Amino acid sequence: MTETRVRRGRAAARSSRTNPSRAALAQTDGLQIRSARRADLDPIITIDASVTGLEKRKYWLSVFRRYGQGERSGQQFLVALQQGQVVGFVIGEVRDWEFGSPPCGWVFAIDVAPQARLAGVGTALLQAISAGFRRAGVRKLRTLLARDNTLILSFFRSQGLMAGALMSLEIDLDD
Ligand SMILES: CC(C)(COP(=O)(O)OP(=O)(O)OC[C@H]1O[C@@H](n2cnc3c(N)ncnc32)[C@H](O)[C@@H]1OP(=O)(O)O)[C@@H](O)C(=O)NCCC(=O)NCCS
Repeated sequence: MTETRVRRGRAAARSSRTNPSRAALAQTDGLQIRSARRADLDPIITIDASVTGLEKRKYWLSVFRRYGQGERSGQQFLVALQQGQVVGFVIGEVRDWEFGSPPCGWVFAIDVAPQARLAGVGTALLQAISAGFRRAGVRKLRTLLARDNTLILSFFRSQGLMAGALMSLEIDLDD
């Protein structure tokens, strides 16, 4: 994807949320969103480990191989940088006709480093991946989240996401 610079701050995030074209116009200092590079993996692994408590290097290498090769086939792996340091990332892709639904953009993961939170970074990442989905031609974004993760639920609700038409079902598979 093309690199974008996004105005810092919640007010900026809020105004561009209500008027997406302002995000594209925002060219001030502070936050930069671009496609992930191989060299970004160490800070990404650190941020993920700070959220999940697990360091999953092999997993992140395979995610990068699959999603980190630029914006192709609707796949996106984006990072947010402040002063050149990776402070967050988002991963998603367009899935066609899965679960019986017309093509839509799925967000699989979004994480912001604890010290960089509540400053609009998550909002800017979601806006950037949404813009990529629009460029890929889809008009709906979906995600799944753990029912007890109130933080991520508050975040997605703040971005306008609501309970959708799909529901998740699961079962434990015995040996
Ligand atoms: C959720 C997360 C991505 C938000 O990132 P962020 O950069 O702090 O988000 P923003 O600053 O853009 O916040 C946007 C809005 O989200 C909501 N929000 C964010 N953090 C919140 C918190 N701790 N409590 C309540 N609401 C919150 C608010 O409505 C906020 O808007 P406001 O600041 O105007 O009130 C970040 O907290 C994170 O990485 N958490 C861990 C994520 C996780 O569990 N990932 C694993 C599953 S994918």
